[in-house]
Order: sequence, then structure tokens, then C-alpha cells
Amino acid sequence: MRDTPAASTSPSLNQLIEERLSRRGLLQGAVATAALGLLGDLGPRILFAATNPSTLTFEEIAHGLGPGHVVAPGYAADVLLRWGDKVLADAPAFDIARQSAEAQARQFGYNCDFIAFMPLPAGSRSSDHGLLCVNHEYTTAELMFPGLARETRVEALTREQVDIEMAAHGHSVVEVRKEGGKWRAVPGGTHNRRITARTGMRVAGPAAGHPRLKTNADPTGTRVLGTIGNCAGGVTPWGTVLTCEENFHNYFGGDLSNASEEARAREVYGIRGRARYAWSRFYERFDLAKEPNEPNRFGWVVEYDPYDPEAVPVKRTALGRTRHEGATTVLNPDGRLVAYMGDDDRDEHVYKFVTRGKVDLGNRAANRDLLDEGTLYAARFEAEGRLRWLPLLFGQGPLTSENGFASQADVVIEARRAARLLGATPMDRPEDIETSPLTGRVYCALTNNAERTPDEVNPANPRFNNKTGHILEIIPPGAGRGEVDHAATEAEWDFFLIAGNPVLGNTLYGSGVSENGWLACPDNLAFDHQGRIWIATDQGGSQDDLKIGDGLYGADLQGDGRAVPRFFFRTPVGAELCGPCLTPDDKTFFVAVQHPGEGSVYAAPSTRWPDFDPKMPPRPSVVAITKKDGGVIGG
Ligand code: FEO
Ligand code: CA
Ligand code: CA
Ligand code: CA
Repeated sequence: MRDTPAASTSPSLNQLIEERLSRRGLLQGAVATAALGLLGDLGPRILFAATNPSTLTFEEIAHGLGPGHVVAPGYAADVLLRWGDKVLADAPAFDIARQSAEAQARQFGYNCDFIAFMPLPAGSRSSDHGLLCVNHEYTTAELMFPGLARETRVEALTREQVDIEMAAHGHSVVEVRKEGGKWRAVPGGTHNRRITARTGMRVAGPAAGHPRLKTNADPTGTRVLGTIGNCAGGVTPWGTVLTCEENFHNYFGGDLSNASEEARAREVYGIRGRARYAWSRFYERFDLAKEPNEPNRFGWVVEYDPYDPEAVPVKRTALGRTRHEGATTVLNPDGRLVAYMGDDDRDEHVYKFVTRGKVDLGNRAANRDLLDEGTLYAARFEAEGRLRWLPLLFGQGPLTSENGFASQADVVIEARRAARLLGATPMDRPEDIETSPLTGRVYCALTNNAERTPDEVNPANPRFNNKTGHILEIIPPGAGRGEVDHAATEAEWDFFLIAGNPVLGNTLYGSGVSENGWLACPDNLAFDHQGRIWIATDQGGSQDDLKIGDGLYGADLQGDGRAVPRFFFRTPVGAELCGPCLTPDDKTFFVAVQHPGEGSVYAAPSTRWPDFDPKMPPRPSVVAITKKDGGVIGG
């Protein structure tokens, strides 16, 4: 059943969506038309509209795959920061033939993902001077070094190459300035910083100091070296950055024949000793046989202060341990902070964290430990558009010693198991979850889940063999009617769109999507100040399936253009698009082009973007998109 083509209709898909849409009583406008199309009631029909119902007026770019990037006419897309560019003042110029770990630790890292633009001066609304805070999610060794193959790299990598990889992970803070309409990076800027897989960090919250976090190198269980798998993130209202540890399971290897007490818990996170990295060959902390607790020190949301290059990043364990995509925050009307989080894995869950204390906007330091106390919830998406937030609280419901939880530390360390016991909904890989600043509705990107079988569909994940993903809309109490209560334990939910090629069926868009406007595998989300959503896609190695690259699409949230995506920016072949981040004036879109050329090797890359130098492999890079007439993005 697992290989059933995407075009097949799940027995319950139409029924589930029909039920969901008819519950609203009247089917209106775009969604109604789309629903009928989805339900197949129109017969053969013109799928692609000649007219554009969207408020986004740019000329769409074409789907397709190519070696370069493509942006809508009238816009400039300038490469701003490339792998290897100088970040710190003492960084050497990038020399691909003589790269070293020392150099890499001072240069822009690999595989840029999340981007936050933090204005300078701090607390201002500047849109032409600030800090770009950028995640470096992982490394692709066979494109960084000559002579490696993906299948054999773990055995072949040298210690020096591993050290370069460790230095290419983590995060960069880089000062950037816009002058004469063009952005430039400021190497050696006073705030510039590299955070790597070796940067010292503190652990805070319920799991800090717990025996399950103690290792030979850190008998306190409160000091960790580094952060890995940093995918997406968020920012707080007090100007700190949240960088989130996602695929940390790939880094741990070792002989597991002597099963430790952690073996069962590890399994739930996919840690089975088959590392995709060579780090455990050289560093004992990544060897599960020697340090069974080290994986418990990853999978967290990490907070740091970009305005203080000396600040020690802090792993905030109260927010739970998952394969965190991101953590986006919204200030609740009662002053508490709410962070929405997705655990990006098949059949994992959607979470939110609500602080106990209130944000003090007038006193930055007062918020320093706000993320250490509060309530973590997992979402249960029920029929008829009901959503319940289930608290992960030790001692409540099944979260007791009978199920192996001795404290809240155990609950956050094993957040996945706790959420499952509570009855949270298994989702199709939750990625970014972001709140519309205009309406307070929350959008949840579910990227795909080709392993969902027909008997595993549920109301919010209605498509089996879901290769192209969907986006849900969560409607907290009060959304669109004034004060929105993001801390409430109930909400409503709806479909925003169900992605894929409409020609193949089983998709849900607004009426008027063009042949280039449909998308696959939504990942990161952003909003502009006109209330439009921007959707970045990541097909994860399957671009050849649909013959489309990844990129950035804009869509209205309301009106005739609701859920009608328009294709704005396309990545080079092999790359996903990440980190879409607008400046406060909406005049610059920073985007991260991650893993260009993935699937090929150093000697014969599928693209040499962005340098197109025959001696240079592709380089993951941040691109600044501006409108040539100086106007706002999207018009
Ligand atoms: Fe790293 Fe969930 O994408
Ligand atoms: Ca990625
Ligand atoms: Ca992602
Ligand atoms: Ca992804």
C-alpha cells in the first residue's frame, strides 16, 4: 500500500474534506470552487485560470529545473552571503583547495536555513542596517570535499574534514547594510559571531542537571558543546533568537550491542547507531556505546542574544525535546509568550509552549529566563474542526511513573512519547508554524508523508501517500475579532491548501491557481504587512518526481486570492528554499538557498551556483531580493 501513486484517492479523503468544508454551513467563493474541484463534481475542467485573483501582481516565473536561480521580472536577487565568506575579522579568504577547520569556524557555515533580520540599533525598526542571524543546518560532505560518495563518506572522511564539518554547522551572525539600494555584508562587524557544533552552551529548564543529561565530559548535566541540525527558528519580542535542533539523530553512531537504559527512548527519536556523519569515529561524545546520554543534550530550542557576541546560548528544555523545525512566538494579549513548534518527522506532533510569566517589553533583562517556566502542549486535531491542546505535565493523565516518567524532566526529554500517550495527532511532518500578524490565525506547514497508509489517515492528515503536503489553518479563540487567545486550550482548525499538481487531483487551492502557481512540500512560512503568506518549499530530493524546483510562493489569506499561490523565486537544482525573512519595511526578502546541487558530487556537481567557477563546487548562500523600483515585495 505504501507505493500507491499520489493520484489515487484515499477512500476517506473526499469525505473528510467535504465534512470539514460543509461544517461551515455555506461554501463560499474560492474555497467552495476548489472544494468542488477536489470532489470531482466539475468533470473535465479548465484547471488553470487566465486571470489572477490575487493581490500579488508580479509576473509569475515558470516551474522547472535549472542550474541558476530565477526571480519574478522587476526584482533583483543578489547573492549576499556564501558558504566560506568572511564572518569574523580574522577569517581568511575562502580557499576551497586549502579549507581548514580554523578558517571555517570564522567563515559563513554550510547549508543556510533559518534567517532572522535583527535591526540595528537594537530595538529599532531599521530596514537597511541589521544583523542577519542564519542557521547552518547540516553539511553535505560529498559536495564540500573531492573524492567522496554519499554512500561511503562516513568511512572515508578524515578528522580534519570532520572538524571542518563541525565548524560549518550551527549559526552565523553577520552585520548587513543596504547602501544605494544594494545590500552588503560587513565582515568583522562588531556583533559578528559564529556558533558551531563546539560552542559552549548552558542547559536550563526542567531537564537541566538531570542524570539523563550527564556525561563524562559534563558531570553537571548543564554544559553542552554545540548545537546541530539547526533548521528553522524564531525571534522573541525582547530581541533574542531561537535556533532549533532538528535532525540531531543523524550524528550518533557506535556499537549498541550492550543496550543501555536509554535504548528504548532513543528509538523514538530514530537514533539507532547508524550515523550519517563520521563524527563518532573521532569524538567519543557521538559514540552511543561510550556516551549514551549525549543525544539527550540535543533536540532542544536554543535561545541566544544576537546583540551580545559573548552571550552563552541556552538550551531551553521546558519547550520539549523533539526534532524541532522551528519555534515562532506570539505575544498573547495577557502578556504571556506563546511559541508554536513542529516536530518534523512522519507521524509526529504539533506543539505550543505558553510561558508562566509575562513578557516585560520595557525591561529586556527581565525576560531572560521566561522560557524556563510554562506549559508545553501537543495538539489533537479532531473532526469538525476542533483542536485541543493537551498539556504535557508530569503527574497528569498518563504522564506518571507507571509509564516511566519520574519527573517533568522525563516528560520534556521524551516529549514525543508523552504527546503520543496523551493522544496527540500524528501529523504529516510538521514544519514551520507561523501566526498571521493581521488576523491571529496560525498556519502550519505539513511537508509530506509518503508512508501514511489509507488506514492511517485522520481528519487533519486526510491524504495517504501524501507526497506533496498541505497547510492547515489554526483559528484560536478571538482570531479576526480583536483579542486572540493563543494560550487557550481549544481552537478551531481548517485546511488552507492541499498541495501538489492539480492536474493529478486531490489538491485544494483557491480558484485561479496558474500552471506555475501550484506547489509541493511546503516548509517555511512568512507574512508581509499586507497579510499575505509566503511559502517556501522543500521537496527533499524528489524534485525529479514533479520536474519542478523548489522556491518561494506568495498567496493571499483572504478574499478571492485566498490559497492561490503565485510563484516568485526558484532555487537552483537540488536546493530547497529556506528562511524567508522580510525586513520591517517589506522591501527586502532575505532567503536561504540550501544544498544547491544535492544528489551530485564535488567532481561533477549538478550546478556550480552561485559562482559558476569550474574550480568551485556549489555554495549554499543567502540571497537578498529587492524590487528594482524600490517598492515593497509583491506590490
Ligand atoms: Fe530541516 Fe524540517 O526541515
Ligand atoms: Ca533543510
Ligand atoms: Ca525546514
Ligand atoms: Ca524540510
